Amino acid sequence: CGIIATIGSDDAVGELLTGLENLEYRGYDSAGIAVQNGTGIKVRKKAGKISELKDTIAADVPNGEVGIGHTRWSTHGPPTDANAHPHTSETERVAVVHNGIIENYERLREQLAAEGYEFHSETDTEVIPHLVEHHLDHGMTVEGAFRATVDELEGSYAVAVLAHGTDTVYAARQDSPLVVGVDEDTGQYYLASDVPAFLDFTDRVMYIEDGDFVRVTPGEIELTDRDGEAVTRDVETVEWNAEETGKGQYDHYMLKEIDEQPDSLANTLSGRITDDGDVSLEEFPPGTFEDVDEVQFVACGTSYHAALYGVQALENAGVRARATIASEYQTPTVDENTLAVAVTQSGETADTLSALRAAEAAGAETVAVTNVVGSSAAREADHALYIRAGPEIGVAATKTFSSQVATLTMLSHRLADDLEQGTPREDAAEFFSELEKLPEYVEQTLKTSNAKAVSERYLDKGSYFFIGRDNEYPVALEGALKFKEITYEHAEGFASGELKHGPLALVTPNAAVFALFTGRRGEGTRKNAEEAHTRGANVIGVATHGTDVGGFADATLRVPETHPDIAGLLANVQLQLVSYHTANMLEREIDKPRNLAKSVTVE
Ligand code: G6P
Repeated sequence: CGIIATIGSDDAVGELLTGLENLEYRGYDSAGIAVQNGTGIKVRKKAGKISELKDTIAADVPNGEVGIGHTRWSTHGPPTDANAHPHTSETERVAVVHNGIIENYERLREQLAAEGYEFHSETDTEVIPHLVEHHLDHGMTVEGAFRATVDELEGSYAVAVLAHGTDTVYAARQDSPLVVGVDEDTGQYYLASDVPAFLDFTDRVMYIEDGDFVRVTPGEIELTDRDGEAVTRDVETVEWNAEETGKGQYDHYMLKEIDEQPDSLANTLSGRITDDGDVSLEEFPPGTFEDVDEVQFVACGTSYHAALYGVQALENAGVRARATIASEYQTPTVDENTLAVAVTQSGETADTLSALRAAEAAGAETVAVTNVVGSSAAREADHALYIRAGPEIGVAATKTFSSQVATLTMLSHRLADDLEQGTPREDAAEFFSELEKLPEYVEQTLKTSNAKAVSERYLDKGSYFFIGRDNEYPVALEGALKFKEITYEHAEGFASGELKHGPLALVTPNAAVFALFTGRRGEGTRKNAEEAHTRGANVIGVATHGTDVGGFADATLRVPETHPDIAGLLANVQLQLVSYHTANMLEREIDKPRNLAKSVTVE
């Protein structure tokens, strides 16, 4: 999750540990370093906190001028000492730290294992040191071996490599951030996944681009492209200081995490959609769910809303499905043909764990859909499916919701494919190619959003309502939950058809109604929104660019044109921004709202 390297320091270990501490805010579950000195590469790594790594190091401090370090957030394999980075080759000639996901690691691992290379971890990263070693064994130089290795990697990576016998660090990036810190006075260099890691040492920064190779040695740096041609990247001075660093240029983690969604979604989808528009989940080969005849989701809070989205996807594909709030799942009616799916970002929510256990005890097959590898839910369920959103620090869930929905959309397709009662969508090729473009659409939504202006305009309202149908209904619920969590204002989400069965009594000119028109049944919502407008409420339409919202809407929040089953996620991004900006203008404690916790481990 976080990379730091230092080149040319008197105290590489001390600097690496400082760097790792500066990366702690990103969340991690293990950490490690490797340093190079005359006697070889020394690696120290540990599951748990950096303080534990420090204790291990204090017992036996390795010296060195050049080193690499890493904080890991598990994606493949649980947090253990063996899975922590750096990873080394058999002879410890090579040590590697890596962020991202190597999509073809299974194939590479099989090839290398067949040649006798022994693997000691469950990570995708470990193929890298073995591949470098493999090329070294075939007589290549370290640089040649590194380049050849990178050529073979598919997926995303920021990777830094230390090789025995040189004081050089080699690095490369593709779809995962990498920056170089430059101290022009001392000739020292740093490499990191983001600037805060080395800001204690220098504020001079060079941003590395996709496809760049870096060779850095004390006093000298060389950047080249894939073909070995020299490239130059400007050195810039960063303005912010070490205290502000965790959040970078952001005032709040929540906004940072909203903005991270193009990347986190790309990670969620990475390697899971095939070229011919099908879903391939390595966790669930075709046929896994043949015996399932009903899907029951259990979840709390935002995860429950993601589960409701999953129900829609399954029902549209003819699969019996329901979602239950975990704390209400007391005596489930399940049998061995029931698939109980616990949706939980943290994997530690007590209510969800107890629902999962109830389903298991009653004989259901279970899946945990979670962001945390090795979490209780992941360990206790029969299968784990990871959403790969990366750590989320703001209490109000944002990027994890998007990744949960994207994951459940893919899982639903897998289920519809396997189940006799299921009819997988006919427009699969078109739908999944749109799903693959979701990161782009989110990016466009973020770039062009007018949510701040809309928030300002309705700041003084007494109530905020969110309405939608079909898969916009969970988005309406989520929009309202986010809004109440962080603004402390009265907010409710409704199925738009229900408005006339009660909530309409609350609709007055003092209300703002966010009406979602992005789904398959936006037309129905239009009628309900009009009813609210007639009662004097301000209606804010959330719709794709091409949708005519109607004259009754007081304002609109637009999202890019896409498949109606996905557009709800884009609408949700707009609503996340509305909640954020409203809370910010009201000066609320956005990242840690009163009375709430990120993960509630009591029932
Ligand atoms: C807490 C958080 C919510 C979250 C819910 C479920 O209440 O404040 O944001 O949605 O727990 O968390 P989980 O980790 O199970 O997804």
